[in-house]
Amino acid sequence: MLLDVLRGGRRQPPPVWLMRQAGRYLPEYRALRSKTPDFLSFCYTPQLAVEATLQPVRRFDLDAAILFSDILVVPDAMGQPVSFVEGEGPRLEALADSAAVEALGGLRIDGRLAAVMETVATVRAHLPRETALIGFCGAPWTLATYMVEGGPSRDFAAVKGWAVRDPDGFGVLIDRLVTATVDLLTAQVDAGVDVVQIFDTWAGVLPASGFRRWSIEPTKALIARLRSRHPDIPVIGFPRGAGVNLPEYVRETGVTAVGLDSAVSPAWAARELLGLCAVQGNLDPVTLLAGGAAMEREVASILGALSDGPFVFNLGHGVLPSTPPEHVAALVDRVRRQASAA
Ligand code: CP3
Repeated sequence: MLLDVLRGGRRQPPPVWLMRQAGRYLPEYRALRSKTPDFLSFCYTPQLAVEATLQPVRRFDLDAAILFSDILVVPDAMGQPVSFVEGEGPRLEALADSAAVEALGGLRIDGRLAAVMETVATVRAHLPRETALIGFCGAPWTLATYMVEGGPSRDFAAVKGWAVRDPDGFGVLIDRLVTATVDLLTAQVDAGVDVVQIFDTWAGVLPASGFRRWSIEPTKALIARLRSRHPDIPVIGFPRGAGVNLPEYVRETGVTAVGLDSAVSPAWAARELLGLCAVQGNLDPVTLLAGGAAMEREVASILGALSDGPFVFNLGHGVLPSTPPEHVAALVDRVRRQASAA
């Protein structure tokens, strides 16, 4: 059903899945994860990653599964090791200059990435045909933020500073990341994913000119090269924080669908985007955490504006770890009741 909508179909109720639908808010995930303290080792163990992928689909009967992995397997595979520190997030040895970029390797689908592709194939074999399997990557810009900052950042001064001072040198890193993400997504499609999402989580920290150069252009190149190998693969772009630049992003990149963050007005998106591509979003994860009547009202307003579609229900960003699983069940139930309301 997700695929029908991505091909331009309209469905009431709309298909529903959630960013970060697998993870720490689920007790069954915490139990599985507690046996493997190292997060990336967990991602690289097919038996564990398959189970983590399937847990939310089983519990909530969602319309799609998203591969359990992380965007940061890309730098890890290129020779910039990534570790996760409890409560602090990812940590990398920051790339300091062009010499560090030159020292990076390409992405080879062997070893640990072969394990990720085994996860894809196994999940696909376990899912009912009508449940889509979503693969993903981080957009080159978002990956570069982690690789240059060495982890999460407040002001992105190092990565934005490099892009402004030395755009040609920084462009070499971005080009390498375009190639690496093309290779990763191609392998995921070869292994069995039905659709891919490109997470540009930090697109919104760029000034308008930088957004065009470092978010739109690399994403456009990535999609064109992926489609030269897999012409029909649907692509969902998620340029978080892109705001008024969304129509330009959609027109230029050629995405099949665009994910909206929660700051985008659903009525604005219906007017400005539904004529261009399918739209996905955009309940605030904190509203899901709060649940109850406030959540019901907010869901009704999103559905009211967008459910004529093509529309996919989702959050505006990932499920928060403190979210009660019952709120997710209530959310899915409310979205599914849209059929009779329509
Ligand atoms: O259910 C799913 O969405 C599938 C798997 C998935 C994860 N990360 C698992 C994960 C996906 C699609 C991602 C994408 C991802 N990873 C993004 C883009 C989306 C977004 O949230 O903006 C980014 C920026 C990352 C990088 C990352 N991974 C950070 C900053 C962190 C630490 C902060 C946090 O949320 O824990 C992670 C860790 C991570 N990735 C966890 C999970 C389930 C938590 C790990 C744990 O079990 O402790």
